[in-house]
Amino acid sequence: MKEFVANVFGNRVLSETSFVLELEGCEALSSSEPGQFVMVRGDWGRDPLLPRAFSILRTKPNGRAEILVKAMGKGTRLLQLTKIGAALKILGPLGRPFPAPDRTRMDLLVAGGVGVAPLLWHAERARAMGVEVHLFYGARTKADLVLLDEIERVCSVSVSTEDGSLVGTQALPAFKGRVTEALTPRLKDLRGQELILTCGPNPMMRAVAELGRAHGVRSLVSVEGEMACGIGACLGCAIPLVNEARPFAYACCDGPVFESERIVIP
Ligand SMILES: Cc1cc2nc3c(=O)[nH]c(=O)nc-3n(C[C@H](O)[C@H](O)[C@H](O)COP(=O)(O)OP(=O)(O)OC[C@H]3O[C@@H](n4cnc5c(N)ncnc54)[C@H](O)[C@@H]3O)c2cc1C
Ligand code: FES
Repeated sequence: MKEFVANVFGNRVLSETSFVLELEGCEALSSSEPGQFVMVRGDWGRDPLLPRAFSILRTKPNGRAEILVKAMGKGTRLLQLTKIGAALKILGPLGRPFPAPDRTRMDLLVAGGVGVAPLLWHAERARAMGVEVHLFYGARTKADLVLLDEIERVCSVSVSTEDGSLVGTQALPAFKGRVTEALTPRLKDLRGQELILTCGPNPMMRAVAELGRAHGVRSLVSVEGEMACGIGACLGCAIPLVNEARPFAYACCDGPVFESERIVIP
């Protein structure tokens, strides 16, 4: 883990609220893995004071790295306005990643909204290794589904919108409803060795973990709650543990990826 300054090389607009920041000078992230994250702070004085946490979308060989951001509040809206060449303070790589793709497993990736970032990177790694994965990708409406062209290039995908606004094609099956409704039939047809990796809103991850439990499939969840320091110093990211000697784990240093059975998903 290292603190360094990266320069914005690109700010790729995906929708009214979502964008990909392309950063250069991120050599310190070169050994990071999907599921790990960075704390990011712009040159914006004292307000907001705290850095913001973002999963690493991918690293590139030339010291570049990307993050996928959804503008929600003050910090992310300031990042949305970031100009090419701007300097950002980065701390990372942080946290524990998802397990690397493995030929002996069938990874079922379940993403909601911008939670797709670490899972898309995992799918890219899997493809490079010749390992098959499938992504179930859901959002309320089609405007919240991002990077579909990049996803389609690396893995098979089923897309769900709660309002049915995305119309599917043969190559890109689309469902009206929650992402768990698309996942359920797949869990009734288990071939053994399935592992669920999920990242997105907490209610979605709770439902995914519950489905996995009901079908005897292990789930790993990546929790993306609020973080102030990212390094285990502020104790602000405590997650209750189930049946363990200590009552809490800390999402930033024990996670953000956890066995769903170990924690109470916030
Ligand atoms: C591991 C991880 C990965 C993430 N990955 C992504 C991603 O890839 N893309 C994405 O768009 N979003 C991601 N998020 C969510 C992202 O961090 C938030 O959307 C972002 O912090 C919101 O910042 P804001 O200033 O826009 O919102 P605001 O609502 O203004 O601020 C939210 C922020 O308030 C601060 N805060 C408030 N209360 C507390 C408290 N009690 N303790 C600590 N901090 C507090 C934190 O800095 C928090 O992040 C991730 C979060 C985590 C933890
Ligand atoms: S964010 Fe400070 S301890 Fe986890």
